[in-house]
Amino acid sequence: MEPIAQSSFLNSDVVFTVTPGINSMTIHNRINLSVPSACMTVIMFILAIDVTAINAQEFRWPEEPENLQVLPDDIKGAKLGSVMREFATSLGVRCDHCHVGEGAGLTKFDFESDEKVTKRKARLMLKMVAALNQQFLPELAEIGDVSSPSVEVSCMTCHRKQTRPLMLQDILASRLEADGIDAAEEEYRQLREDYYGGFSYDFSSGALTGFGERLGNEGDFESAIRFISLEIEMNGESAGVYYTLGGIQVSAGLDLDAIESYSRGMEMAPDDWKPFFKSELDRLTNE
Ligand code: HEC
Ligand code: HEC
Repeated sequence: MEPIAQSSFLNSDVVFTVTPGINSMTIHNRINLSVPSACMTVIMFILAIDVTAINAQEFRWPEEPENLQVLPDDIKGAKLGSVMREFATSLGVRCDHCHVGEGAGLTKFDFESDEKVTKRKARLMLKMVAALNQQFLPELAEIGDVSSPSVEVSCMTCHRKQTRPLMLQDILASRLEADGIDAAEEEYRQLREDYYGGFSYDFSSGALTGFGERLGNEGDFESAIRFISLEIEMNGESAGVYYTLGGIQVSAGLDLDAIESYSRGMEMAPDDWKPFFKSELDRLTNE
């Protein structure tokens, strides 16, 4: 029996010895949590599942888990707990996202059950993460320049506290397509209110400009201009945002608006950028 996954949680080394049944390949899955991030995980966990309820009902992590198919059978107690807390924290969910049961009454959960499709998907994810870390990423070293320390992919790397690891732009694009521009703008405002300061979505300056540019390339000038205006409202004016806006306005046939954007951009542009604005303005005013 070959170990398929090896993991060190909270600085304690555990060797996961699992027989996957599909192959006897050795996949070591090493997830190192630094002490601060380990503390954060614990804090998030406490916030997530109402610790008083657990204490009252004396939930205990099983010493003999009955239905492990990917994690090693001998993972138990606190170590199983740290894996499950990492799952919950990374996806921004509670235990009941994957397990049959409700809220914080953990003693009444049926953790062995595979009824929930999310639990079964999580198993595949575990295998995928192990394959990324132990099969694909090590191949980088064969190409050259070994990086140190190596980057470990974890659930959080992709999920960023979301069940579906969508980018902000993807959410806006599908909202735009389904419900129109007002709904998409409202979605942005709501997400920003709910998630600003976290790292689930990119609210930094430039993100909406990039989204607007993408819409402009697709020929949806009205939406492009709306989202770039939103960028200015949210993150302030900049030479770059006006340059992009001017370009879209030109494509939309809005020359007068474009002249205004390029002029405003040129005012705030650093000296080495000004010629780019000037040549656009010359072209527009000579035509
Ligand atoms: C993202 C989905 C997901 C979340 C969230 C999650 N789990 Fe799990 N849990 C799993 C999977 C998948 C397994 C089985 C792993 C395997 O087959 O190796 C499992 C197994 C378990 C087991 C072992 C059951 C047994 O006897 O076989 C316990 C206990 C458990 N989880 C408790 C929890 C608790 C408590 C939480 C909340 C802190 C939690 N889990 C959150 C997916 C999840
Ligand atoms: C390489 C990126 C990546 C990593 C790493 C990753 N996931 Fe996922 N995960 C995804 C994507 C993409 C989806 C599919 C979303 C969709 O299309 O619905 C997904 C879906 C899921 C789902 C189903 C979502 C739902 O609620 O319906 C679960 C559960 C899940 N992942 C758990 C995990 C767990 C647990 C880990 C860590 C062991 C993990 N994932 C690591 C990318 C990732």
